[in-house]
Amino acid sequence: MALAPSNNKATLSFSDGTPALELPLYAGTIGPDVIDIRALYNRTGKFTYDPGFLSTASCNSSITYIDGDKGELLYRGYPIEQLATQCDFLEVCHLILRGDLPDAAQRTAFVHEVTHHTMAHEQMQFFLRGFRRDAHPMAVMTGLVGALSAFYPDSMNLNDPAQREISSIRLIAKMPTLVAMAYKYTIGQPYMYPRNDLSYAGNLMRMMFATPCEEYECNPVLVRALDRILILHADHEQNASTSTVRMCASSGTNPFAAIAAGVACLWGPAHGGANEAALNMLYDVQRQGGVARIGEFIAQVKDKNSNVRLMGFGHRVYKNYDPRARLMRETCHEVLNELGLHEDPLFKLAMALEKIALEDDYFVSRKLYPNVDFYSGIVQKAIGIPVSLFTAIFAMARTVGWIAQLNEMISDPEYKIGRPRQLYIGAPRRDVVPIDQR
Ligand code: CMC
Repeated sequence: MALAPSNNKATLSFSDGTPALELPLYAGTIGPDVIDIRALYNRTGKFTYDPGFLSTASCNSSITYIDGDKGELLYRGYPIEQLATQCDFLEVCHLILRGDLPDAAQRTAFVHEVTHHTMAHEQMQFFLRGFRRDAHPMAVMTGLVGALSAFYPDSMNLNDPAQREISSIRLIAKMPTLVAMAYKYTIGQPYMYPRNDLSYAGNLMRMMFATPCEEYECNPVLVRALDRILILHADHEQNASTSTVRMCASSGTNPFAAIAAGVACLWGPAHGGANEAALNMLYDVQRQGGVARIGEFIAQVKDKNSNVRLMGFGHRVYKNYDPRARLMRETCHEVLNELGLHEDPLFKLAMALEKIALEDDYFVSRKLYPNVDFYSGIVQKAIGIPVSLFTAIFAMARTVGWIAQLNEMISDPEYKIGRPRQLYIGAPRRDVVPIDQR
C-alpha cells in the first residue's frame, strides 16, 4: 500500500557544508508522522544513529497500534479492553491474522481449522527426549519450534501465500501442545493429547494438568483468566521479539525458524522473561522476610549501584500506565477470589509491593507502573502453572502476532532484507606485523 504523504515537511541541515536535504514525511492513520530517511546515505554519505530504536519506525504495519502516553492498545483498530472482555483468544487470532473479527460462520471455520492442527507429529516426543529433564522450558521451546521445520517441510516456502497460511495455522495450533509436552516431560508424566471439544485455553490446561488416570474438569474462571492472558499478549507492534522475527524472516528463511528466533528473544528478562523474573523476585523477598522486608528491598531497587530492578514494573512504550496491566489486575483479583488465595503470603506480598511502588516518588516520577507481566505472573502462579513455564505461555500467545507480522512483511512489495549499518569506533586501518615483532 502506498504511504500517505504528511502535510508536514522536514529539512535536515548540516554544519559541515553538506547541502540541506528535504526529506519526505508520511502520516499514519493515527500516531506520529515518520521522516523517510531512505535517501539519506545516498544523498549525504551519512547514516542515522539510533541504538535501541528509540526514534525509528522499522516498517509500516496495520496490525497493532500503541499510544504509550495515553495507555492505548489497539489490535486492527479495536481497543484491547473491548477485545479482552467481549472476545475469546481464537477470535482475536482471527482478527490479528486475517485482519478482522470473524462472523459466526468464519469463527466456526477458524476454530475448526486450528483445532484440527493441534496434534504434534508423533516423532516430536522422541526429539523432546533428547533434552535434559531439568532443561528450562524456553530452551526446550526454542528447540521444538525450530525443529517444526524438520517435521513440516511441506509448508516452508515463505514466498508461497498458501504455505505461509498453513504454517501460520500449524504454529498457532501446535504451540499449546508443545508447551504442555515440555512441561509433562519435565515432571515425568505421560503426554496428554489435545481434545477437539475444548477451547484453546481449556485444552492447554487439560494437556498440562490432566493425567490419563482420571477425568479432568476445567475451572471456567481459570480458563477465562488464561484466555485473557493470551489475548493481552497476542501482539505488541515492533517489540524486540517481533522485530527479531521480522529481521530473521527478511532473509527468506522458513516461518518456523523465524518464530524460533522470536521465542529465543522473548526469553530475556527485560522482555517476556519479566513475569518469571517478577515471581522469582517475590520469592526472594519472601524468603528474606516478606512484607516486613519490602522497605529494604525498595531501597535496594532505588540504589543505582545495586543493579536491582523492580521486575514487572516499567515499560519502554507505556509511560502512564499499561492498559493490559489494568485488565490483568482485574483478572488477578478474580482468580485469587475464586481460589481463596487473597491471604496467601506470596500474593499479600505482591499486593503490598504494588501499593508501595505506586506511592513512592522514585517510581511515580519515572512513570514506572506495574506492567502486564507483574499481574500475569501472579495469575499463572495461582492457576498452578510453574514459574519456569510463564515465558513459554507468553510465547504461545505471541505466536499469532509474530506470524501475522511476518506475513505482513513478506506481502509488502517494499520489503527488503533487514540490514542496519553502524558507527564504527574501532581501530583505523592498520597492517599485520609478523608475530615475532608484535
Ligand atoms: N525498577 C527500577 N528502576 C527502573 C525500572 C525498574 N523496573 N525500570 C526503569 N527504571 C529506572 C531506570 O533506572 C532509569 O532511572 P534513571 O532515569 O534514574 O537512570 C529510568 O527508570 C528509565 O529506565 P530505562 O531503563 O531507560 O527505561 P527503558 O524504557 O529503557 O526500560 C524496561 C524499559 C521495561 C526494560 C525497564 O523498565 C525494565 O527493566 N523493567 C523491568 C523488566 C520488565 O518488567 N519488563 C517487562 C516489560 S512488559 C513485557 C513486554 O512487553 O515485553
